[in-house]
Amino acid sequence: MRKAIIAGNWKMNKTPAEAAELVKALVPAVKDADCDVVVCVPATDFAAVKEAAEGSNIKLGAQNVHFAKSGAFTGELSADMLKACGVEYVVIGHSERRQYFGETDKTVNARVRACVAAGMTPIICVGELKDERETGYTDIIVEYQTLMALHGLSNDEVKASVIAYEPVWAIGTGLTATDEQANETIGVIRKAIERKYGKDVSDAVRIQYGGSMNPGNVKGLMAQPEIDGGLIGGASLKAPDFTSVVLYNK
Ligand code: PGA
Repeated sequence: MRKAIIAGNWKMNKTPAEAAELVKALVPAVKDADCDVVVCVPATDFAAVKEAAEGSNIKLGAQNVHFAKSGAFTGELSADMLKACGVEYVVIGHSERRQYFGETDKTVNARVRACVAAGMTPIICVGELKDERETGYTDIIVEYQTLMALHGLSNDEVKASVIAYEPVWAIGTGLTATDEQANETIGVIRKAIERKYGKDVSDAVRIQYGGSMNPGNVKGLMAQPEIDGGLIGGASLKAPDFTSVVLYNK
């Protein structure tokens, strides 16, 4: 079936020296992982992480990408630039980008297309706010965000994409969705993909859970049939914690 994928999202943490130290500790620790292992790091850490992860099963990821090929976009990075640095995965539409940097479903879609066109895998983040869950709109929100993000991709491109379901109220708060809540909402996302792209696509696409996933709750979440991995923030910054999450089935 689907191969699990555990990705660390370091956010705005770690200098190159700190990044190299963390990845050097992870390399031997996660070498026998059964899942795909990715670290999504600040662009200033790409070179250090690439070098430290050389020859290992740890893949390099970025945390955003611009949608234009090149041009007058001060401070931005294009998909070709990321690709040339060895980036294989790109987190797109993280709730922090939606909340603090004006990211919309339209720009998420443009970034996803640029990422896929350059031959990298998008990790597309979707998720409801607390009041959206409380008012009963979770399903509508995650379906809309998911289908908008994937718009214009071929069936094969959708199959190869990764979605991260991250309830915004669970990110960095220590609150986690229950195993059943996470499984149910991920099932809703998969059904929406099935309705639009067919069952062979929805069966193939990998959907992670994210939001305070840690060594203590990873086993329960990963035991759920719809959950294909995790996008890990806080617990990805320390080698022992991230190792325990990656080796959840050992
Ligand atoms: P958290 O972050 O694990 O610290 O909640 C997850 C994320 O933002 O991807």
